[in-house]
Amino acid sequence: VPAPTPADKFSFGLWTVGWTAADPFGAPTRPALDVVEAVERLAERGAWGLTFHDDDLFGFAPERAHRDRQIARLREACAATGMTVPMITTNLFSHPVFKDGGFTSNDRTVRRLALRKVLHNVELAAELGARTFVLWGGREGSEYDSAKDVRAALDRYREAMDLLCGHVLEQGHDIRFAIEPKPNEPRGDILLPTVGHALAFVERLAHPELVGVNPEVGHEQMAGLNMTHGVAQALWAGKLFHIDLNGQRGIKYDQDLVFGHGDLLNAFSLVDLLESAGYDGPRHFDYKPSRTEDRRGVWDSAAANMRTYLLLRERAAAFRADPEVVAALEEAGVPALSEPTLDAGETVADLLADPALDAVDPDALGRRGYGFVRLHQLACEHLAGAR
Ligand code: GCO
Ligand code: MN
Ligand code: MN
Ligand code: MN
Repeated sequence: VPAPTPADKFSFGLWTVGWTAADPFGAPTRPALDVVEAVERLAERGAWGLTFHDDDLFGFAPERAHRDRQIARLREACAATGMTVPMITTNLFSHPVFKDGGFTSNDRTVRRLALRKVLHNVELAAELGARTFVLWGGREGSEYDSAKDVRAALDRYREAMDLLCGHVLEQGHDIRFAIEPKPNEPRGDILLPTVGHALAFVERLAHPELVGVNPEVGHEQMAGLNMTHGVAQALWAGKLFHIDLNGQRGIKYDQDLVFGHGDLLNAFSLVDLLESAGYDGPRHFDYKPSRTEDRRGVWDSAAANMRTYLLLRERAAAFRADPEVVAALEEAGVPALSEPTLDAGETVADLLADPALDAVDPDALGRRGYGFVRLHQLACEHLAGAR
């Protein structure tokens, strides 16, 4: 497997390698990580970009001088290493003021504060040349059905998105927004819980062309869904603006494991999809180095994300190139699904009167085997390095 290079477009959140591993049950197990060290260590390992929340870089409501200094230090580290800032995002979840959400808090003043915080950060994104702005609404939701008017909350969410898109258009910024779905945690139920919900929401906005999705492997899997299917639908809709790669083992708390360290088969089909669909955006890792890890474990786990992606990319290419796989795909009818069901110009009347259909024996057709299991076994064998 080749070593990662910037051409692979691997990016990491500052909050990922920088996580000090405080969890609801215990204190931090690692010291804080400085942004300059994050940029340098990631660059050494072949990464391309660093992403961050405003609070990760300069804290909540920073003094002007501290904010400027931190931005300058990030810029210098990027200039020295060739690293980029392809995406930034706003923290609307840590400070107690956002305990009932930002854009959809029941408190109007909180909503106005949230909008102002995001608007400031959109300006920073423009200054840093970040072209994607992620919005993860982790606190937008509720624990109690009686406490949140969901239809009103969606009106306020839309109002926020329309304001942000209008602002970006007015300023002429080259920035698109990507909504990141998650079903729950920290709220009992989060609004726009899955890729499908977010895609439907985007179509109701004033500027849908400026808004897409940022699916996360673990978040779809927390909802019991198939990440590869969700990403395929986002691609089909032209809405895959960004992606959060990580690992998750089933329906439980958000694990944020290394990419591939959860459902490895689904990671394989995801990489196969991204690569074959020609997705050319960032391959962004939103994982957490486990609480058991020390500094070395942090950097080993960062490298593991990239190596796993490249390994799966190689395995997927070998799978596609294997003549037995090509024949099995053919037998399974996979390429045949790309053929339109009606002939060009064929009408409803033509279909109803098609003599070929009269001659079909549905019982015989029902006995057809598709060979899907054999095909999948070939995928497993490629993944396991047996072919
Ligand atoms: C989570 C989310 C976040 C977001 C981040 C970017 O479950 O904690 O995945 O890590 O990706 O806030 O907006
Ligand atoms: Mn998380
Ligand atoms: Mn997550
Ligand atoms: Mn994420």
